Amino acid sequence: MSVAQFWDERYGQPEYVYGKQPNKFFQEQIDQLSPGRILLPAEGEGRNGVYAAQKGWRVDAFDISAKGRHKALQLAAAAGVSIHYQVGDLDHLSFTPASYDVVGLIFAHFPASHRRQYHRQLMGLLKPGGRIILEGFSKAHRAYQQENPHVGGPQEEKLLFSQEELLEDFAGLDIVLLEEPEVSLQEGLYHIGKGRVIRLIALKPLS
Ligand SMILES: C[S@@+](CC[C@H](N)C(=O)[O-])C[C@H]1O[C@@H](n2cnc3c(N)ncnc32)[C@H](O)[C@@H]1O
Repeated sequence: MSVAQFWDERYGQPEYVYGKQPNKFFQEQIDQLSPGRILLPAEGEGRNGVYAAQKGWRVDAFDISAKGRHKALQLAAAAGVSIHYQVGDLDHLSFTPASYDVVGLIFAHFPASHRRQYHRQLMGLLKPGGRIILEGFSKAHRAYQQENPHVGGPQEEKLLFSQEELLEDFAGLDIVLLEEPEVSLQEGLYHIGKGRVIRLIALKPLS
């Protein structure tokens, strides 16, 4: 089964599998900013993009799952907002360089072989002064998954994040926040219970 088939199958069920509410960290960060243009890679069923659109952001999103897109557009329609959502991966889509105020990476665990290249491409899409908002599972999350499989997250260790790798990926940005907290997740059917995430806020220098 390909990765896209895995996600299409997961999103094929009627429930919003990570819920309809935005990720908490994403929400807190968006609430502190004035609206602008945001790109949401690996956007899944649209919970974060729809929240941003409701707050006045112009939202572009993409994901490899066509089923994810379908549900995201339904969620947007129900909320009375619109988001622009493409199906594919970064290698096969094109975006205008230096055009986004925010790139939001929420549980966007790309293949290890492509992660650094994708993160660097995404940096190039930020305007000067633009920011990365990232929350994803840390390598220390393995122990939590073994204790409680309902907390979810990638099964392959190399897909999990480390602070060192992220600092290297996003070298050249100014790091505003980098932390690795234990969190208690209540996101739909597949992120339930205690886990360990990495949170990163990083700004593209103005010059
Ligand atoms: C855990 S879900 C998170 C979805 C969403 N960001 C959220 O927080 O609800 C991970 C998502 O990554 C997407 N994905 C995996 N590999 C991808 C890739 N190479 N390019 C784009 N999306 C990808 C999957 O289809 C899935 O929707």
